[in-house]
Amino acid sequence: MDIKKLIGEMSLKEKVGQLMQLHGNFFLAQTAAELTGPASRLNISPDDAYYAGSVLGFNGAEEMMQIQDTVMKKQPHHIPVLFMYDVIHGYKTVYPIPLAIACSFDDALAEKCAAMAAKEAAVSGVNVTFSPMVDIARDARWGRVMEGAGEDVTLGCRMANAAVRGYQGDMGKYNIAACVKHFAAYGATEDGRDYNSVDMSERTMRQTYLRPYHAATDAKVRMLMTSFNTIAGLPCAGNKRLVTDVLRGEWGFDGVVISDYNAYREMIRHGAASDYADAAAKATNAGGDIEMMSATLYLSAEKLINDGRITEKQIDDAVYRVLKLKDELGLFDNPYRTADTSAEKEINLCRAHRDTARDAARKCAVLLKNNGVLPFSKNVGRVALIGPFADTGEIIGSWACHGSPNDTVTVAAGIRSLLPDAAVDVIPAVSWDIYADDITGIPNAVKAAKKADAVVLCLGEHQSMSGEGNSRATLTLSRAQTELARAITAANRNTAVVVFGGRPLELTSIEPFSGAIMMMWQPGTEGGSACADLLFGNAEPEGRLAMSFPWCVGQMPIYYSKLPTARPVPNSKIITENTYCSRYIDAPVAPLYPFGYGLGYTTFEYSAPTVSKTQLKSNDALTVSVTVTNTGNRPGTDTVQLYIRDKTGSLSRPVKELKDYKKVALSPNESKNVTFTVTENDLRYYTARDVYESEKGEFEIMTGPDSDNIQTVAFELI
Ligand code: BGC
Repeated sequence: MDIKKLIGEMSLKEKVGQLMQLHGNFFLAQTAAELTGPASRLNISPDDAYYAGSVLGFNGAEEMMQIQDTVMKKQPHHIPVLFMYDVIHGYKTVYPIPLAIACSFDDALAEKCAAMAAKEAAVSGVNVTFSPMVDIARDARWGRVMEGAGEDVTLGCRMANAAVRGYQGDMGKYNIAACVKHFAAYGATEDGRDYNSVDMSERTMRQTYLRPYHAATDAKVRMLMTSFNTIAGLPCAGNKRLVTDVLRGEWGFDGVVISDYNAYREMIRHGAASDYADAAAKATNAGGDIEMMSATLYLSAEKLINDGRITEKQIDDAVYRVLKLKDELGLFDNPYRTADTSAEKEINLCRAHRDTARDAARKCAVLLKNNGVLPFSKNVGRVALIGPFADTGEIIGSWACHGSPNDTVTVAAGIRSLLPDAAVDVIPAVSWDIYADDITGIPNAVKAAKKADAVVLCLGEHQSMSGEGNSRATLTLSRAQTELARAITAANRNTAVVVFGGRPLELTSIEPFSGAIMMMWQPGTEGGSACADLLFGNAEPEGRLAMSFPWCVGQMPIYYSKLPTARPVPNSKIITENTYCSRYIDAPVAPLYPFGYGLGYTTFEYSAPTVSKTQLKSNDALTVSVTVTNTGNRPGTDTVQLYIRDKTGSLSRPVKELKDYKKVALSPNESKNVTFTVTENDLRYYTARDVYESEKGEFEIMTGPDSDNIQTVAFELI
């Protein structure tokens, strides 16, 4: 396709149409009146809608083809539409939420789930997914922490990379383009409240928050979405420094930049643009290409060009990027691309995808506590399955795309199919609702617990309580759930608490009396099967926390890679009486469970790390070795983590930063030597000179099974 020639033939109206994205519903309207309503909300006419270059949101191949036909017929040059959708953790088959996937510390698994999601989406007519979300998130009050990879930069970069590789592959038949979001620093929203402001130093932004987006552009992600938030007062959709200077200039990104939903118009609400024309000019001059679900540029481009506020060349360049993506996806040759109603039936929810979803949910679960309760014996005669999440498909997760709770294996169904001979009593007992305080169901549940050989208590937060717009000011379980947990664990010590949720929760009140606690997150379509596998020892929980679990909500934001304080508490795990140190008088400083933490069903012992040399030259590498031994009596897999501390720099440096991780599978009594390579590149940061570089001097390498449980060896960069 000669895109430049095509652009030369297009009217300005057609060109700016390519930069407008509307919802699929616009084109599925049966009557003109149905279209007039939504169109008038954007101040456009129903006819204008047919100029839209891309569509967001639709259901399946048939709708895609219908929309494609309708729009192409009316578009003067019959240019195909680009179809985008939020395929966040699966399409029909839903995998665990991204935060849970990050807990697997398994890049290959993350890539595989993304590739399978891409395949289902591709045959269903999706060309681009609004994923991965790579916003570093350290405040669990923010509901969108479920969509990302958690608090850490290295893990965040690797998960970003894996997701982009999985979706895009070699951009073949079953691949789709990825759109990394939300640029930038959306996860640092003040007070953990969605759509709120962000403010931070340039150094912190570059050092921490920008890096996963950069990892995605390095992996050749085709699109990027700007975020809703302001940074230092400037809405990101209109942030030239970020989009033009950093993204395009420094990182060389030549893909398509899209705004978030209605974000051009929201610049007016932020008080950073006076009207549509002003918003469109600012966003275009910042470097934006497509505006999602608003038409400010479409409506004001001509005037803006005539007034000299933007140039037609800027529009042409943006249109070029959009059409180039359509061409790369093959839409000019076949506007339906891989959309295919029969392939859709065959591939969506197929066995292979369900099996991977089950495997993933097993690998993402994090065992937080276990006093010998788990795994349960498979020979149990009677299981009591108690709590609001015992028998519901509403554990599939928020942002589940076209995945349905009805296609989801519940915990009850999972246990029944694993243990066909056991009697399974299911008693929801209390509601999941945070406000519910009806505890009249508890006595019945206690009776069932007393009769059972094993009790599974399914608690947590409902999927509707996390995700976009669902910030929380408290992170505890509801009062009814807490009372239930107290009563059930007292009635039967052989109780495992299974927690569902989209964020780290405050489990401090139930921790002391719970014999076992397993975080299942929102585990997707096969959540119940995976949960049964884990509880009864068919699989081992392998997940390690990608976000710290707070002791209390007041610790937010909490993360392990803090700068050292000059007045540390003597012991961060207890409330200290020492004054004039960096403490809380009513809570410990440490989280309840630290980053990287998680148990399995066996035990591991770590040797102290050794280094191949104690002095590292800048063009050289050193090898770190650590021996891990399975000291228990079951096979198991641990995630060996490597952290580094720069002891003295031109600036204060974090107490530790994750640099690498490797999973190691060991049989009982087996030992393996795990090695890592460290180079000068791993030691770089934005120094006092504002340069990304390393500084000579002493460093500490720390290895261990989590960010708290580590052993140290020193070396010097010379
Ligand atoms: C969200 C984006 C999403 C978009 C389209 C917005 O509200 O912030 O993450 O991709 O809607 O659904």
